[in-house]
Amino acid sequence: MYLDQLSVINFKNYPELDVFFSPEVNVIVGDNGEGKTNLLDAIFYLSFCKSFLNPIDSQNIRHNEKFFVVQGKFKRDKKNVNIYCGVKRGKKKQFKKNKKAYERLADHIGLLPLVVISPADMSLVSDGSEMRRKFMDGIICQIDKEYLNLLMAYNKVLSQRNALLKMFYKKNYFRHEELEVWDMLLVQHGQKIHDLREKFIENFIPVFQKHYNHISKGKEEVSLKYSSQLQKGNFWELLTDAVGKDRMVQYSTVGTHKDDLHFNMDGYLIKKYGSQGQQKSFLLALKLAEFDYLKARSETTPMLLMDDICDKLDSKRISTLLELTCNGEFGQVFITDTNKERIERLLGEHNIECKLFSIEEDKIKEN
Ligand SMILES: Nc1ncnc2c1ncn2[C@@H]1O[C@H](COP(=O)(O)OP(=O)(O)OP(=O)(O)O)[C@@H](O)[C@H]1O
Ligand SMILES: [Mg+2]
Repeated sequence: MYLDQLSVINFKNYPELDVFFSPEVNVIVGDNGEGKTNLLDAIFYLSFCKSFLNPIDSQNIRHNEKFFVVQGKFKRDKKNVNIYCGVKRGKKKQFKKNKKAYERLADHIGLLPLVVISPADMSLVSDGSEMRRKFMDGIICQIDKEYLNLLMAYNKVLSQRNALLKMFYKKNYFRHEELEVWDMLLVQHGQKIHDLREKFIENFIPVFQKHYNHISKGKEEVSLKYSSQLQKGNFWELLTDAVGKDRMVQYSTVGTHKDDLHFNMDGYLIKKYGSQGQQKSFLLALKLAEFDYLKARSETTPMLLMDDICDKLDSKRISTLLELTCNGEFGQVFITDTNKERIERLLGEHNIECKLFSIEEDKIKEN
């Protein structure tokens, strides 16, 4: 599967753009602020119906304009797949495949699998557990439609349970049996979520380890571990034990909404002790493992978007990464860089052919 043509109108800095890509390696160069990341974001919209940077659709409309349109012509199994995404201020987002609007945007997820590696993803390593849960969920959702429904059901029950805890506190009374109605559902959905996450991580870890060792040439040892309160005992019992605390703080302190992934390097937390380059290598290994995981379970090879890959990595690691990802096995690849000569030299070292584009003043030019 690959993106053949991308057309945009009024998307972020671009008034208009029409570009044909290579099914293999595409390199986009331009100075800071010229719109390299925005171009990748437009491609991301076509796969995920949203931006990977700004979740508020209307803020992705070019300033002082009323709408944006992003369209992509894909080739998938020798068939054309045309995707249309239109956003008007104050109106519902329109998303169509071959001119037919989707009933639910969620039905589109997984059709055009894509992995993006961007400097913004460093939050996966540096921020709180929510980012890491989103990372796991994002991957599982792309290959398991039921999982998304399960997550939505769990979150609904969780907010009902939290609302009830708040109500008890406000009205100064408590009835355990009322809470137990929600507990039953929380356990039912939460246990399934836990089991699916556990299974996912078990398969994911060896792929991740392989990629990290390859990028770092075995210089440091890293590990990844799934951590869940549900590993400490029976979910129902854990909920019952926490009732006193939950009543006091007025929200649910136990459940899969507290799950996390622990990232370590040589036995220490990478977030605290890893260098920036090591943290970035960790992120790359996570994303490349995501790619392999999706590829092995999708009917098509995902697209790979690598934004600013040269940032914070030494030339050995960049070279290893390019050699790995641009050899054809990774399918269609998009790479951005600020330095044309550097990226041309690095690709040249491995005889990697590419289609090279430069962006300047909101226009794209093929070199
Ligand atoms: N809604 C919008 N309307 C108009 N311009 C926008 C909008 N959103 C972002 N921009 C502009 O897009 C530009 C940033 O583009 P982008 O982040 O893609 O640059 P870049 O080439 O990736 O830069 P860098 O090398 O620094 O990463 C900025 O100049 C910003 O003002
Ligand atoms: Mg950028």
